[in-house]
Amino acid sequence: MDPGKNLLSIGETASRSGVAASTLRFYESRGLIRSLRVGGNHRRYHRSMLRRIAIIRVAQRLGLSLGEIGAAFATLPDQRTPTRKDWSRLSSGWGRQLDRRIAELQNLRARLNGCIGCGCLSMKNCTLYNAGDEASDLGSGPRYLLGDTPPQRAD
Ligand code: FES
Repeated sequence: MDPGKNLLSIGETASRSGVAASTLRFYESRGLIRSLRVGGNHRRYHRSMLRRIAIIRVAQRLGLSLGEIGAAFATLPDQRTPTRKDWSRLSSGWGRQLDRRIAELQNLRARLNGCIGCGCLSMKNCTLYNAGDEASDLGSGPRYLLGDTPPQRAD
């Protein structure tokens, strides 16, 4: 088989993936995809990059950052393109991450209900407002949104 048949120009890759050439160059600059350089320093992408690009797009739709996607790709041996089995593992981990985010957002939504129509934005009473970061002793992240309650105060 002609190895050149597996190489696509940036225009062909953009056309087949539905991703703009400028975005492909950006992904490449972030180490998410790779190209070979041929005469005239033109890029050629191996066909397997189409699968990587598809995974990047799906992961972005799930709300993952390019850094998180790159970290997931880095777990693959020799930076290979994810196989069906790899994709199953990655998507399963991302599914759990999505579940955690949904739970956090539901918690945030429930707390927001208490603020609607209130308007106090009180550091003492409002569980959404914590300008002084009084919850930092409880751990990292948005503690009150994660379920911790603000300390009771005597006014
Ligand atoms: S604005 Fe009053 S409790 Fe949040």
